[in-house]
Amino acid sequence: MGNDVREFHFSQDDFNQVRNVLYKVAGIKLADSKDSMVYSRLARRLRALKMNRFSDYLRFLSSNEEEIEHFINGLTTNLTSFFRENHHFDILHNHFVQTKGKQRIWCAASSTGEEPYSIAICAAEAYGTMNPPVEIIATDIDSNVLATASAGVYPMPRVQGIGATRLKQFFHRGVGSNAGKARVVPELRQLITFDKLNLTDAAWPNLPNDFDIIFCRNVMIYFDRPTQMAVLGKLVSHLSNNGLYFAGHSESFLNASTLVKPIGKTVYRKVEA
Ligand SMILES: C[S@@+](CC[C@H](N)C(=O)[O-])C[C@H]1O[C@@H](n2cnc3c(N)ncnc32)[C@H](O)[C@@H]1O
Repeated sequence: MGNDVREFHFSQDDFNQVRNVLYKVAGIKLADSKDSMVYSRLARRLRALKMNRFSDYLRFLSSNEEEIEHFINGLTTNLTSFFRENHHFDILHNHFVQTKGKQRIWCAASSTGEEPYSIAICAAEAYGTMNPPVEIIATDIDSNVLATASAGVYPMPRVQGIGATRLKQFFHRGVGSNAGKARVVPELRQLITFDKLNLTDAAWPNLPNDFDIIFCRNVMIYFDRPTQMAVLGKLVSHLSNNGLYFAGHSESFLNASTLVKPIGKTVYRKVEA
């Protein structure tokens, strides 16, 4: 595995062990081609722990419960952006406009927060108030991204794409040591509760089972089909009848017709029980 030029010894067996552990603890299935990615992401942990070989790290991992968190945080892929897959937000906007009463929304796999804040902005715009009748629960397995999400502070290049009007209404520009950054306004921040949740855990913490909307986008792609179907079934059991399920652009549940029916591009409605 190219060990001549590598700082740490990393064998095929080490890679296979990493894959097995990651699948077991997070349901994430890594392709054969991901060995360089695994090496570079976990090399930071070996450096921090002053270890020379991946085999030492794997032994340490197996006997140190706390290291699992670093391991997961290191290996998740957290790519996201504000108003990603923008067509979903048009549908969401229309849903808000047509719906009376409080909307309960779960943003599962919310990464660094751009997705739940986009949902909150969409609600503020649709209801025409900074205090829209929505309650958003945003969860992720990765404690680092949850901390970033909870802080709600982003480098300007990450927020600029939302446009000047939204930027002015929903963010405060940083000054002094925060120059070049923007912070989500407190009114939006208050609409969201951030929590750690592993979608592949057998038991989930106490969660409402009457969400009106679930966003679970671009995380199922990391799971194999049996895991996807098991997670989808559990997520849908937390949706109210007729609740909406937003999936990622390459996640199709057309063959899950007993659970959800498609109502738009990667948007589904819960099939009534
Ligand atoms: C590519 S990001 C997608 C973020 C956002 N949903 C979006 O579409 O822009 C995938 C997220 O899924 C999270 N994730 C991976 N495995 C998970 C699991 N088993 N349970 C919960 N979240 C998980 C990762 O930590 C990461 O933040």
